[in-house]
Amino acid sequence: MVLLDQTRLPAEETELVCADVPSLVRAIRTLAVRGAPLLGIAGGYGVALAAVRGEDVAQAADLLERARPTAVNLGYGARRVAREYRAAVESGAGQEVAAAVALAEARALHEEDAAASGRMAQYGLDLLAELLPGGGGHRLLTHCNTGALVSGGAGTAFAVALRAHREGSLRQLWVDETRPLLQGARLTAYEAGRNGMPYSLLTDNAAGSLFAAGEVDAVLIGADRIAADGSVANKVGSYPLAVLAKYHHVPFLVVAPTTTVDLETMDGTSIVVEQRSATEVTEITPKPGVPAGGGGGGMAVAPPGAKAYNPAFDITPPELVTAIITEEGVISPVTGVGLAELCARSSQV
Ligand code: MRU
Repeated sequence: MVLLDQTRLPAEETELVCADVPSLVRAIRTLAVRGAPLLGIAGGYGVALAAVRGEDVAQAADLLERARPTAVNLGYGARRVAREYRAAVESGAGQEVAAAVALAEARALHEEDAAASGRMAQYGLDLLAELLPGGGGHRLLTHCNTGALVSGGAGTAFAVALRAHREGSLRQLWVDETRPLLQGARLTAYEAGRNGMPYSLLTDNAAGSLFAAGEVDAVLIGADRIAADGSVANKVGSYPLAVLAKYHHVPFLVVAPTTTVDLETMDGTSIVVEQRSATEVTEITPKPGVPAGGGGGGMAVAPPGAKAYNPAFDITPPELVTAIITEEGVISPVTGVGLAELCARSSQV
């Protein structure tokens, strides 16, 4: 498998070859490949890779699913491809044919994600027009990275902003830098710049004063897992934005494919939030392309031995979410019943 190594962006566009499942697991853990929809696609291709290599496919799916705990898409992609492989074997297919079935399933998942991305972008654009009438153009704030780097298509939240830009209704994209791994500064700014979008970076701490100044019309974020009650796990820092948005009467919009909805997780307290290494917080990268906390020689910004609290995600309760935008449509207000209906619609396709 060949991946674009996201730890080296924006300084270098470097390919990373993962010839086996353990190397893919490492790439997932170090965030060389990341973002919920892309993790689903990578999980699917990873299982297909194991199948092609004649390895234990169930074990590969298990290893991949456990590489990171929060993004539900990872397990979804890995399990889905493993299921098709097993069905082929059980119906008498030889290893080569079953591996071809697994690869075809991974490709199908990849294509479905690209199509979902296009539909979410349109639903999101329509919703923005409805929520923010007036001709001045939208000033949108986003967090983390949710563009083409994390998807088979243009992404989730970023895809909505990109479509707004292409239709002439994006006035400003505010990009949170997204401490500690800087997905906003390194990746969203990279994507926004390549697409000619009007954007400015801000430190995560600056969002409050931006809201207070009346400079944010809507917040657009993605999700790593949406529980059955509509609680949203996304990159740490999303929840404070939701609180700010509520206080300032600004719509807080979550854009995610239905594959990110996990009806088996009842509520936000049941979502496992990944805790990452303290060095991601106590060190910063000395130069672009060297990931902090990865043993890559980050520059210390805290005394030796300093402990750190470093959850990768936080949970936003449904009452703070104005709408969830999926490829099957929009739910607003966010309720468990509405989510279940959307998911039922997607499983009928
Ligand atoms: O730790 P990461 O970089 O994988 O976290 C990614 C996010 O939190 C994204 O916002 C989320 O996966 C949605 S991507 C469409």
